Amino acid sequence: MHTLKVDNITVEVENKKILDQFSLTINSGEIHVIMGPNGTGKSTLSKVIMGDNSYKLQSGNIYFDDQNINELTTDARARLGIFLGMQMPLEIEGVTNADFMRAALHAKEGDNFKLYNFIKKMNQNIELLKMDKEMLHRSINKGFSGGERKKNEILQMYMLEPKVIILDEIDSGLDVDSLKIVGDKVMNFYNQQKPSILLITHYQRLLDYIKPDYVHIMMNGKIIKSGDASLVQIIEHNGYDFFKNNSENIIKES
Ligand SMILES: Nc1ncnc2c1ncn2[C@@H]1O[C@H](COP(=O)(O)OP(=O)(O)O)[C@@H](O)[C@H]1O
Ligand SMILES: [Mg+2]
Repeated sequence: MHTLKVDNITVEVENKKILDQFSLTINSGEIHVIMGPNGTGKSTLSKVIMGDNSYKLQSGNIYFDDQNINELTTDARARLGIFLGMQMPLEIEGVTNADFMRAALHAKEGDNFKLYNFIKKMNQNIELLKMDKEMLHRSINKGFSGGERKKNEILQMYMLEPKVIILDEIDSGLDVDSLKIVGDKVMNFYNQQKPSILLITHYQRLLDYIKPDYVHIMMNGKIIKSGDASLVQIIEHNGYDFFKNNSENIIKES
């Protein structure tokens, strides 16, 4: 069992409040979804959890189990088992996908790292995700389509076997077949390892494959409404505007 706890954090960039006393706790075995309009702070939240140092906490704390991780580098957070599948995965020229993953796994496993096992596992996962083997030997995300980049994030997830998984709009850029593969693979991983999962998405369609325990609506840097999966239907029917003025009567009126 483990827990990611985001406790009352406020983040400002250039004097603009992006996260406003935001709190969320995710236990292992729980899937949480955050939905919300563009520019509401969802990606910022994911990067702050991962320790992106262009965002500083004004106040509040982030805990992994009992450990306060406020001051940990991204690297150290990754070694604890926190993983972010980014909305816009970066291109890294000159480092191949295979080299990158080998380095990441080596860092995680230390003396237990075995090259043979790594190669075997990577080939299995490439096949599982129906990716092209040749992608392993290209620079990270270089010339990858949007969908290929997203699959590559899921490949990294499968290789690193994280305890806390944040997927920021993993569905954007995916065609229907790839969406199904990604959705199914995330769910398989979840069923095997019971990580904590935080999904950020705009669309119901991903939730056809990944079944959330909790759905949160985020606006202006904070959660304004939490519920179960049925909240998604209300959003699809009414849009987010509905929640701005009606945060009390939502369930009644749906
Ligand atoms: N590094 C940054 N510098 C300036 N503004 C930023 C930065 N990062 C995010 N923002 C602003 O913060 C707000 C929230 O952005 P973001 O977290 O990407 O929203 P979302 O993912 O919900 O669409 C936006 O107005 C965005 O322009
Ligand atoms: Mg975003």
